[in-house]
Amino acid sequence: MSIIFNKESKTFHLTAKNTSYVMQIIKDGYLAHLYWGKKIKEYNHSNQIRYRDRGFSPNPVTKDRTFSLDTLPQEYPAFGITDFRKPAYQIQLEDGSTITDLRYESHEIFPGKPRLEGLPATYTEKEDEAETLEVTMADPLISLRVIIRYTVFHHLDVITRSVQLVNDGKRSVKVLKAASMNIDFRKSGFEMISLYGAHERERFIERTAVRRGVQSIESRRGTSSHQQNPFLALVGKDTKEHSGEAYGINLVYSGNFEGSVEVDQLEMTRITFGINPFDFSWLLNPGETFQTPEAVLVYSANGLGEMSRTYHSLYRSHLCRGMYRDKERPILINNWEATYFHFNEEKIKEIASKGKDLGIELFVLDDGWFGKRDDDRSSLGDWHVDRRKLPNGLNHLAEHIRSQGMEFGLWFEPEMVSEDSDLYREHPDWCIHVPQRRRSTGRHQLILDFSRKEVCDEIIERLSAILSTTSITYVKWDMNRHMTEVGSAGLPPERQREVAHRYVLGLYRVMEEVTSRFPHILFESCSGGGGRFDPGMLYYMPQTWTSDNTDAISRLKIQYGTSLVYPIISIGAHVSDVPNHQVNRTTSLNIRGHVAMSGNLGYELDLTKLSEEDQQTVIKQVNHYKEIRSIVQFGDFYRILSPFEGNDTAWMFVTKDKQESVFTHFTILDEGNSPFKSVKMQGLDPNKKYLIVELDESYYGDELMNVGINIPKVQGDFTSVMWRLRVVEN
Ligand code: DGJ
Repeated sequence: MSIIFNKESKTFHLTAKNTSYVMQIIKDGYLAHLYWGKKIKEYNHSNQIRYRDRGFSPNPVTKDRTFSLDTLPQEYPAFGITDFRKPAYQIQLEDGSTITDLRYESHEIFPGKPRLEGLPATYTEKEDEAETLEVTMADPLISLRVIIRYTVFHHLDVITRSVQLVNDGKRSVKVLKAASMNIDFRKSGFEMISLYGAHERERFIERTAVRRGVQSIESRRGTSSHQQNPFLALVGKDTKEHSGEAYGINLVYSGNFEGSVEVDQLEMTRITFGINPFDFSWLLNPGETFQTPEAVLVYSANGLGEMSRTYHSLYRSHLCRGMYRDKERPILINNWEATYFHFNEEKIKEIASKGKDLGIELFVLDDGWFGKRDDDRSSLGDWHVDRRKLPNGLNHLAEHIRSQGMEFGLWFEPEMVSEDSDLYREHPDWCIHVPQRRRSTGRHQLILDFSRKEVCDEIIERLSAILSTTSITYVKWDMNRHMTEVGSAGLPPERQREVAHRYVLGLYRVMEEVTSRFPHILFESCSGGGGRFDPGMLYYMPQTWTSDNTDAISRLKIQYGTSLVYPIISIGAHVSDVPNHQVNRTTSLNIRGHVAMSGNLGYELDLTKLSEEDQQTVIKQVNHYKEIRSIVQFGDFYRILSPFEGNDTAWMFVTKDKQESVFTHFTILDEGNSPFKSVKMQGLDPNKKYLIVELDESYYGDELMNVGINIPKVQGDFTSVMWRLRVVEN
């Protein structure tokens, strides 16, 4: 039993692998948070809640001057009934008031984990992998029921949370805010880690002291965004990669979100995460339910590295789905940076054929194959092949490539419409817009209104028409702008603030339908590079194009930051041309290979223009990657040196049984008369002896991890080594 309810003290004790989470129904039925941290055998109220009369913290029903919600650590707090901190939810009644008061009504504990209707979520395959608690809170005055759901995974330090709001009353209510989780820690002094960025600079790591007052990360862009990722961690000041406590929260959602942290007058820290309440409301009619997305809570007592490895394991096997989940992913060649929009059948065949010679397994035809798309000004929505470029059609090309022994993949941007397209001319009201207002474009395009069922249905059919008639085994699903003038022609005025969330729900339905109609297709999501790298997307598509910035040096930070939460197998990483198209930097093919091989490897350059020497290098890289692929894609990941902290970066991958490993070290700039370098490895078995294949040297794991290994001096900027380790003595 990993969820225990003590009837006398009305305490719930949830235990995951090495985690305990405790809460209590206190007087008047409020649900208090007591503990989240390292596993304890039994909770006996050593930190029981203490009460004191605090000035200006008023008292609800009890008339007890020492009892105020303002000073209580809570699980799902309201505003307006004595707590002045940011609430987890807010409901507006028909009379305009926004006061609700939730009290414990009942609870249920059961094995397994239920699905979330219409939303992506982590899952179990067997009931005994997890246990779920549903606590029902109610406000009888307005017949509102709120079901707070917790699932604990037995073999991982994971607790998931989500909330359902049910209107059992006779009148409609408006949900103004419904966070997925809230925790009030009875302490302050945390540091907060978030992932910020921009197009071509995604998921850089920000670590700041949490100050008194409110600080938050949000997206108001309609997608989870390049700018902030739906992830926050609270950590101790001394938490490092391999030591200290880390509390991670990641929202399984691809739209507008808010994660906020508030330190209050009594040095308590409140963390709340969910759909962004900004520009949001949801009309809940009698009998209707609103389901929030899921928040994934990971606790680590052993630093950020362990937190990341927990997220990786969970997402690899309890979030990603489909036949590619546990399969090694194909090495691909994508033509985008090779040709952009300017290609024809012959050119594509040449690149593919060269790719085949070099050992690459999948050819991906990127943007520009449909409508009359010679640049980004037209044709999105017109998903039929451009015969000017591909006179023999798509399937001919696909079959040709497949006959050579390579798979064929195709790019789509299904959520978009160009003003210059037949689809837009036919259905000008099918885009997100506000009547009589300008329709601002981004990359010359508008966003299809996926809050409307008929729009989603049409796109499902248009995609299916191509996918069912072409020999395709891979799709790159792109999305290249953020939302403006958010409104829908399909919704009444009182529901206009539902559009952004309904869009995401529509998108999830489309992806569910398309991916289940074509289970043999490997889907990779993309949004101008890594603008929608979130667990919501990973539920449908098990890999993501990480960034449009393919420069190896920029990628060190991007991939390092991404790895904080997302599994290596999901991180699309390509070797591209030099000088690099985004930052104009020239780096060796060697380091470009080592960086891309530290993720899900692909190539994105004109292979037909490679010199003989470079072709030989690519052949070696491809063969090498095939040998280490399962270690990189399914092994445990250890970050050793951070590109955010110095000139050197190092990381390694270790198989679960610790029999094999891949170690990689990068130096950005050469330095005159530089000191000798040696690096302590991580994650190995101290008692096993490993051969470092490339050096032909053997050491016990304890020596490599405690003494360290010398890194050879290579002259010049942008250098790297990648070594394989194999157990030679168990
Ligand atoms: C943005 C993507 O991130 C690129 O890889 C490429 O597919 C372009 N879109 C195509 O328009």
